[in-house]
Amino acid sequence: MSETGLKRILLLGASGYLGRNLLQEWSEEPLEVVAVTRDAARPAWLDRLSPGAKHLHFPSVDDLSALTSILGPETGVVNSVAIATLPECEKNPEGARAINAVLPERLARYCRDHGAPFLHISTDGLFSNDDLEHAPRYFGLEEPVAPVTVYGRMKREAEIGIEKVGWGHIFRLCFNGPDLGTGRGLLAFLAKASLADPPVVTGFTDNWFTSMHVAPLASAILERLKSGTKARFSLEHLATDRAITKFEYLRLVAERAGIPVNMIERLRKDSLSVSPAPLDQSLRNTYPKTFSTEDLIARSAVDLRSMLRSATAG
Ligand SMILES: NC(=O)c1ccc[n+]([C@@H]2O[C@H](COP(=O)([O-])OP(=O)(O)OC[C@H]3O[C@@H](n4cnc5c(N)ncnc54)[C@H](OP(=O)(O)O)[C@@H]3O)[C@@H](O)[C@H]2O)c1
Repeated sequence: MSETGLKRILLLGASGYLGRNLLQEWSEEPLEVVAVTRDAARPAWLDRLSPGAKHLHFPSVDDLSALTSILGPETGVVNSVAIATLPECEKNPEGARAINAVLPERLARYCRDHGAPFLHISTDGLFSNDDLEHAPRYFGLEEPVAPVTVYGRMKREAEIGIEKVGWGHIFRLCFNGPDLGTGRGLLAFLAKASLADPPVVTGFTDNWFTSMHVAPLASAILERLKSGTKARFSLEHLATDRAITKFEYLRLVAERAGIPVNMIERLRKDSLSVSPAPLDQSLRNTYPKTFSTEDLIARSAVDLRSMLRSATAG
C-alpha cells in the first residue's frame, strides 16, 4: 500500500475512553472513520464527538465477519477493545484472556488475510517491580517483560500472538485525555475530587509513568497506519521524555489549571492491600518523534478546565 492509500479507519472499542478520544481527534481528518461498537443503534455520544463518523454494529467479537464487507488494504483497523481495569482481569482471568489476548491475535490474522493495516494498543504495565531502587528505569524494547498482573500478562500474550501472525503494529504506551463521558482516567479522578467537599485527591508517589496525551497519540496511530503494510509487524514504545509519578502529574496539572494543589495528598501505591500493580511504568520512547511531558501537562490542564466547566454548567 502506498503512503496515501489509507481511506478508512475501523475503530474497535470506539465507545471506550481511548476510543472516544480518538474519534474526537480524528473528526476533522479527511478519512472515513467507522466507530465499531456493541450498540445496535448509533449511540448519541457519537454525534457529539464526531458527527461525520459512521457507525458499525459489531454484536460479538466471536464473529469477525461483521467487519468483512469493508475490510481491505485501504481500511486500517485499530483495536482499542480491552478489559482494561486491573481488578476485573484479576477476578475473571479467562474472560480477560478472551478479550485482551485471544481477540487481538485473531484480529491480526483476519486483517492479514484481507491485507488490511492493523494497529493494536498494548500497555506500559508490562515490567516487573524487581528493581524499583533505580526507578524510573525507562524500559526499552530489549528489556525482559515480566508483568505482575493478570492484565499485563494478557496484554503480553496479545503481543506474542500478533508477532506470531506477523501482521500489525503494536504501540506500548499510557495516555491521558478528557474522559468524554466514560468517567475513566486520571483527569476524571482529579475533576471529580476537586468538586467534592472537601476537595481531596490522592496521588501515588511511587508509581512512575511516561504517559502521552491522546492528541499526539491519535496522530501517531494515523501515521503508522498510513505507512502501510511494508513493515508487516512492528512493536514500539511511545513515551514522553521525562517520567513523572502520578502524584506529580496530578499536582502539575492542577497547578497549571489553577486548582489548589494542596488538596492533592501523597499516597504510596505499595501500601495498598489490593492486587499487585506495576509501579515503574516508565518507557523509553522508540517512536521516531518526541513527546514532551510539558506538552502532556499543558494539554491536560486545558482538558481539566473544560471538564470542570461542563460539570459545573450541567
Ligand atoms: N486507560 C489507560 O490508562 C490505558 C493505559 C495503557 C493502555 N491502555 C490500553 O488502551 C486500550 C483502550 O483502553 P481504555 O482505557 O479505552 O478501555 P475502556 O475505556 O475500558 O474501553 C474498552 C473498550 O472495549 C470494549 N469491550 C470490552 N469488552 C468487550 C467485549 N467483550 N466485546 C466487545 N467490546 C468490548 C468496550 O466496549 P463497551 O463500551 O461496549 O463495553 C470499550 O469500547 C486498551 O487496549 C488498554 O489496554 C489503556
